[in-house]
Amino acid sequence: MDISHLLTSHSRNMEASLVRELLHYSQQPDVLSLAGGLPDENLMPAYPELKQLTDSRQYGPSEGEKDLRECIVSIVAERGIQTSTDNVLVTNGSQQGLDIVSRLILDESSTILTEQPTYLAACQVFKLQGAKVQDVMSDAEGMSVSALRDAIEKHHPKAVYLIPNFQNPAGHCYSLERRLEIAALLDEKNILLIEDDPYRDLCYDNVDLTPISTLIKQAPWLYMGSFSKVLWPGLRTGYIVSCDAFSPYLVKVKQAVDLHTNRLGQSMITQFFKSGQYPDHVIKLQKAYKEKRDVMAEALNAELGDLIEFSLPAGGMFFWVKLPAGVSSQLVLTEALKDKVLVLPGTPFFPCKSSLDDSFLRLSFARVSPAQIHQAITVLAKVIRQLV
Ligand SMILES: Cc1ncc(COP(=O)(O)O)c(C=O)c1O
Repeated sequence: MDISHLLTSHSRNMEASLVRELLHYSQQPDVLSLAGGLPDENLMPAYPELKQLTDSRQYGPSEGEKDLRECIVSIVAERGIQTSTDNVLVTNGSQQGLDIVSRLILDESSTILTEQPTYLAACQVFKLQGAKVQDVMSDAEGMSVSALRDAIEKHHPKAVYLIPNFQNPAGHCYSLERRLEIAALLDEKNILLIEDDPYRDLCYDNVDLTPISTLIKQAPWLYMGSFSKVLWPGLRTGYIVSCDAFSPYLVKVKQAVDLHTNRLGQSMITQFFKSGQYPDHVIKLQKAYKEKRDVMAEALNAELGDLIEFSLPAGGMFFWVKLPAGVSSQLVLTEALKDKVLVLPGTPFFPCKSSLDDSFLRLSFARVSPAQIHQAITVLAKVIRQLV
């Protein structure tokens, strides 16, 4: 049945997420997947006992459970963000945070600036509102400040969307200097910052993690966090912390979208934090993921060091690998899949057709064992060498 006449012009133009389309391959037991951004189930703590949880059967507040919002206030205070529960909105993961913010600020007349490359599902959300997504050149320290200045002057954006810590997909982490420069520029131009920070606790090296939101003096800002990468992504729980002016508007959109985030998941996360286990849990995650990161770096260097380029990510889940000249990431995907290894081409992470680059792969080390990493990289090396 053709239903295209029923769709809005923006829904008609929607592109499917390659990551989610590839997910069914990664669920096949004989496929080794480096493609998803999924955390390792073996490192997830057990759920708290149901009987400890508060009564979650009734409807709850749109802002989120008070206990969880208090927890979030202390979590972000440790990061340098001084706020109150009034400025915390609990969301269905930070993905919903992006949706709520987009509904609030973006329409067909708006432009939003992003890093190049950037998190593809954020662009899906921005584009669904009809907004123009404009990428801005980025390097190992994050978005280029001069390119950002030019883009602000040329495109008059509503907002700048940044993932400063262990970015998805490029893995970069902003230096303190870059954070300060970006904050100063956003203040000067009075542009809204949307800071997305789901990976910060997956930190393996000594790097600066100061939220840019804390360095801003007068421009508006929104800071998003998530429990997905460090606890249980299936519970779909994240949050937006906002500067004062935004909070009432964000809550109204949340009410319209889904009334509130599911209460049972919020209670489980609160229980876990209150039990005092989180600090040890993070140490465990950091140790395990750091080991996997190092194994992947070693394997890539040993098998492909003469052909590819990559930087060691100081945290997060991803290597961003530049393929040898002329080797197409799409072709690597197809050929590696014949040998039951799934990788993710970098193409969907480029929001603008003009900057599209088919020479990158995003490789995740999070959900595979060290032995599987070796196995997968051996296959990848064979495939890439055949294509050179
Ligand atoms: C940068 C970034 N933002 C947001 C999300 C969405 O996370 P959540 O599970 O909290 O919705 C992801 C997930 O991969 C991500 O990489």
